Amino acid sequence: MTQEIFLTGITTTGTPHIGNYVGAIRPSIEASKDAAKKNFYFLADYHALAKNEDPDKISQSTLEIAAAWLALGMDTGNSVFYRQSDIPEIPELTWILTSMTAKGLMNRAHSYKAAVQANVEGDDKDPDKGITMALYSYPILMAADILMFKAGKVPVGRDQKQHVEMARDIAQRFNHHYGDVLVLPESVIDDHTAVLAGLDGRKMSKSYNNTIPLFAPEKKLRKLIMKIKTNSQEPGEPKATEGSTLFDIYKAFASAEETAAVEKQYADGIAWGAMKQTLFEYINDRIGPARAEYERLIADPSIVEEELQKGAARAREVAVPYLAQIRHAVGIRALGSD
Ligand code: TRP
Repeated sequence: MTQEIFLTGITTTGTPHIGNYVGAIRPSIEASKDAAKKNFYFLADYHALAKNEDPDKISQSTLEIAAAWLALGMDTGNSVFYRQSDIPEIPELTWILTSMTAKGLMNRAHSYKAAVQANVEGDDKDPDKGITMALYSYPILMAADILMFKAGKVPVGRDQKQHVEMARDIAQRFNHHYGDVLVLPESVIDDHTAVLAGLDGRKMSKSYNNTIPLFAPEKKLRKLIMKIKTNSQEPGEPKATEGSTLFDIYKAFASAEETAAVEKQYADGIAWGAMKQTLFEYINDRIGPARAEYERLIADPSIVEEELQKGAARAREVAVPYLAQIRHAVGIRALGSD
């Protein structure tokens, strides 16, 4: 049997935070070492462009995300780690797929619909306000990312499930029209990965500005952890672990025994200040070595660039011949070659 292909993309907006780490980065890095699977991981910088970030932010975020994944031990020998924009076959395939995508399908995308809804409820009632064609066609670019590498499995967060289904719909329509050329993908959603709360108790997210950057320098890390919201219970009062952001973050990093020990400390009335110190030391000890490597990579981006170029060359070993086959299938051919 041929190896199953797994593929996932990371949009290059923002600085990696501990919520990203436990939700996506850590499981992907584990999977990247699994020799039984063929894994593709890429930095979706064209998707970042659709969000209209400023140019310096896009390139800085690409560097930070790539450096973080590498510093944490992404296995780039076993898996393929690359940047979307280094693969010109992806935008080329995007256009071919655009020709096979019903406008009505794109009308149904949740992210697009939410943007229209916000406009309709807004002051000037223009449903199209601020909506670019990139936002509208976003799922087609994502379909090209997936279909370009014949990925059968696409690990994503729940919010991306519909996009993967759209990729499947587009591939189905393509195959119906042109023959069996594309592989139909499906999403893989891990319901067990923790979703962490941020400093203010809401979901940790860049859009809420409540994140703890994974590689914040030690002092900053300590300062941020000290800011995590708690209730007003006094030292000595028994405390519930449920609903405690400090506890949830600790648990996401610690072993079952370590977690059980902290549960007992909660029951015994640990002071919030002491728990914050415990959490800080725990994370700082675990992250320390990777942080040193991260800082080395950020200081010398050429190391990261070289890794990405190696990854791109390997990705294109798949993309170039496959796109040639797809072009041929749709009738984009050297004259006289059919
Ligand atoms: N849209 C995804 C997100 O915002 C990132 C992404 C881009 C992706 N292309 C992909 C994920 C292909 C999986 C497969 O999270």
